[in-house]
Amino acid sequence: MTDLSHPAPRFSASDAEGLAKDFFNVAGTATPLDGERDRNYRLETGVDAGWILKIVNASEPRVESAFQTALLEHLAVHGAHLGVPHLRASVTGDFLPSVASAAGEQHALRMVSWLPGKPLAEARRSFALMSNFGRALGELDRALQGFMHPGAVRELDWDLRHAARSRSRLQFIKSTERRAIAERFITRFEQAVQPRLASLRAQVIHNDANDWNILVDAETTSKVTGFIDFGDAVHTVLIAEVAIASAYAILDMDDPIGAAAALVAGFHAKYPLQAQELDVLFDLIAMRLVISVTFSASRQDQTDDNPYLAISEAPAWRLLEQLDSMNPRLATGILRKACGFDAIEGAGEIRRWIAANHKTFADLVRPSAAILNKVIAPFGDASHEMTIASAQQRPADATRWWDEFSAAHKVPLAIGPWGELRTIYTDSAFESRFIKGQRRTLHVGVDLVMPAGTPLYAPVAGTVKSVEVEPDPLGYGGLVMIEHNPPGCPPFLTLWGHMAHEALGRLQPGDKLEAGDLVGYMGADHENGGWIPHLHLQMTTDTRLAASEVIGVGEPEYRDVWADLFPDASALAGIPPETYDQQGMSKAQIIAKRKELLLPNLSISYTDPIKFVRGDGVWLIDNFGRAYLDCFNNVCHLGHSHPNVIEALTRQAARLNTNTRYLHDNIVEYAERLTATLPEGLCVASFGCSGSEANSLMLRMARNYTGSDQAIVLDWAYHGTTQELIDLSPYKYKRKAGKGRAAHVYEAVVPESYYAPEDWPVEEHGKRFAESVAEQLAAMRKAGKRPGFFLAESIPSVAGQVFLPEHYLQEVYAMVRAEGGLCLADEVQVGFGRVGSHWWAFETQGVVPDAVTMGKPIGNGHPMSAVVTTREVADAFNNGMEYFNTFAGNPVSCAVGLAVLDAIERDQLKENALSVGNYLLEGFRKLQQQFEVIGDVRGLGLFLGIVLVTDRKTKAPATALARKVADGARERGVLIGTEGPHDNVLKMRPSMIFSRANADFLLEVLKDSFTAALK
Ligand SMILES: Cc1ncc(COP(=O)(O)O)c(C=O)c1O
Repeated sequence: MTDLSHPAPRFSASDAEGLAKDFFNVAGTATPLDGERDRNYRLETGVDAGWILKIVNASEPRVESAFQTALLEHLAVHGAHLGVPHLRASVTGDFLPSVASAAGEQHALRMVSWLPGKPLAEARRSFALMSNFGRALGELDRALQGFMHPGAVRELDWDLRHAARSRSRLQFIKSTERRAIAERFITRFEQAVQPRLASLRAQVIHNDANDWNILVDAETTSKVTGFIDFGDAVHTVLIAEVAIASAYAILDMDDPIGAAAALVAGFHAKYPLQAQELDVLFDLIAMRLVISVTFSASRQDQTDDNPYLAISEAPAWRLLEQLDSMNPRLATGILRKACGFDAIEGAGEIRRWIAANHKTFADLVRPSAAILNKVIAPFGDASHEMTIASAQQRPADATRWWDEFSAAHKVPLAIGPWGELRTIYTDSAFESRFIKGQRRTLHVGVDLVMPAGTPLYAPVAGTVKSVEVEPDPLGYGGLVMIEHNPPGCPPFLTLWGHMAHEALGRLQPGDKLEAGDLVGYMGADHENGGWIPHLHLQMTTDTRLAASEVIGVGEPEYRDVWADLFPDASALAGIPPETYDQQGMSKAQIIAKRKELLLPNLSISYTDPIKFVRGDGVWLIDNFGRAYLDCFNNVCHLGHSHPNVIEALTRQAARLNTNTRYLHDNIVEYAERLTATLPEGLCVASFGCSGSEANSLMLRMARNYTGSDQAIVLDWAYHGTTQELIDLSPYKYKRKAGKGRAAHVYEAVVPESYYAPEDWPVEEHGKRFAESVAEQLAAMRKAGKRPGFFLAESIPSVAGQVFLPEHYLQEVYAMVRAEGGLCLADEVQVGFGRVGSHWWAFETQGVVPDAVTMGKPIGNGHPMSAVVTTREVADAFNNGMEYFNTFAGNPVSCAVGLAVLDAIERDQLKENALSVGNYLLEGFRKLQQQFEVIGDVRGLGLFLGIVLVTDRKTKAPATALARKVADGARERGVLIGTEGPHDNVLKMRPSMIFSRANADFLLEVLKDSFTAALK
């Protein structure tokens, strides 16, 4: 080891010129260069770029000089393109000749090429230069990877592995504050960094890439062109190279960590770093400065004669002070993110877990924020009166504004988004610790503005970590922190700010909370830091941060870092992403374009129409991020956007879609699976693309089989949109613009027990209502016709969710068949297990039709339909005319159909429909007891209706009220419909995955909507 107290060799400039000539045959003028231990001279020759002659300190062991020489030789081969000095061999062919001094000491001599350029220390620094520096350094160390020499294993105080030795020099720092800073870093190093160094990658590094040893292109100073002075090279941890380079390069930069991040990212691009290396980088940067300032202090204490020692002391102290004010964990996040790592280990996993599990979270507010009508709070608008009032600590005024707005627009919730830029934070606490002269403005929590006292529940289970009061004005007031450790997810924290102090008396660190347990209440302004009542909810993926260390607002420059450390808590709070981002046209624009471009007959639901942008299970989400519980649409049988259906559809669409003229497995597999759900006899399938197509095909088959087109239908039935089906749909032909009943159509009354004459015994209802069909058959006979078919929905829907009385279809089918007619069942609405007790609703009547049609739910939204009939009817239809339907039965549709059947069976959705349906019926009956206007409640499985009457005796329809209740439900976030000849039946057909919790919400909303409508 070099003896640091051993004086530098004493050789004059003319001595140097002589040595250069004699040993290296270089004739030039020598000028001295700075050097701490060796004597260095620049030699200008006038014929080439010049040379540097190094006369090595006599105390330096030969092996160390040989190491440096070997290193430069290695780089000459492996890093020829890098700007590194080239060795010049002596006249005897030696790279390291020796010379004796006048005093008789032996000195090694080394001559290397002079490199052009300007020291980085004199260059204007930019992030681009830092990045370039990092890349060059990465290349240098990459070239040194694998190089080894016995002299590389050296004992150097400047080796960052030994940085703790600085403790012995602490005493020389005169300022108490500065000594405390250095000591803090040393202690952190000893406790948290040093033990980790042994497991990090080690190799030979330059070890002194300070800004005087880095050369930049003299003209533009935008590129690093060379590295000089390999005198401190050592075998040590690789990351020390980056730390040392950063420590000097970022001195006096406004955003030193940002600058270091640019340097590190450049290095990483050329020589990938590991996350655990970046985890110690911040401390190593600081420790390099600590080594430097403690050495300066100790040397100044002993001698004042070497200005080199103090050269970077003042800026080093300024940087150390700034680093000391930073949170090292946040700074490390910046450095990690710059290299493409998560700002903290696990951040990505936590984000993915949240995204995958958000449907399982308990509601943070009740009802969920997803369902509530909401707006963005104006905290981002510094000129808004609510914001001004908040910033000026006039919470009552801010609250008054919000209360008035909330009431006038029926908006119970305002959201302060993650990532919003806010200029309202003027307090000095919001000055950036990372970037000089800048404030933190990027909001990294999510605010929910609701009335003081609003209860708040844990969305996922957790353990209380801290409960405290932050008393500063415009602070958090009541503050709760919870640690969550859900299975399959790294732990994370949630921070609940501006809470009522009540939580302090109730919660204690260590308390366990289940999902859905009360966390606390939104605090009033006297206890929430002086704000309009709201919750600041923030996540943090760094479980080691204390509540006081979690920043609620960050620097916009580091948005991506905060997104890892403090991810958007919206999903935890139940706020859909659409709340923040409106895509596409406004509702008014779409309405205008529809008027201009589309058939005007298209109707739109609700006076204030809804623009839906996403479906998710039982929910539909509008363009403002409001989720509605869809209790109306029976097409999305398995729920909206069912993953299995999407997967089957995309998989098959990506592979092949053709038509039935080619052979494919799917169509026969599907036909086999579908017919297996039906009673024996219904065994031949054919496919269409809509319910209307299926019904049309079924009519062709029936007419072909019976030779008659004479039809019996039920009053107020609807069977499809083609002219022939409109002719069979009293719901259409008897209403506006309808042409009335056609001659071949006979209408039987709707067999609706609720309206049966009082003197009919209930058990006779089926038979009595069937008499109406007998009458139509008689009328037909009288007209000299015979029946072609009887067509009915197995539960008439547009007629008002009418459940056929017991034995009705048995009676009717017998009569119709006796006269040669076919019995046709339209199960376009009610099939596929919706009734819960059976796959098909006709089964509840104990009959088997001659043909049955299916549509709507068959493809969970994919346009497809089917007719299944008997072998006899099918064979008769095979009369020579081909049945070809371009799209029907294609491989994609059949793949979708199979996926639907799979899910119904696998997830036992029929069973679910029955049990949730029964639960709902029970709830409806309770409502019926409470509300006189509910005349009848009906349903089986998830096909449900509530009949509203103005008088239970006369059963006069309460049409206006039905609309009011349906509108009220929409206002409260639930979609239902009205149906029946008088539009007085509330109609509900939720998807088969409907849960009890969904049912509870529906019941609650119905109750509230009835109460409000009856006021
Ligand atoms: C009972 C019934 N049958 C047939 C149809 C026609 O189906 P689509 O609209 O798919 O043609 C409907 C549509 O509402 C229906 O409710």
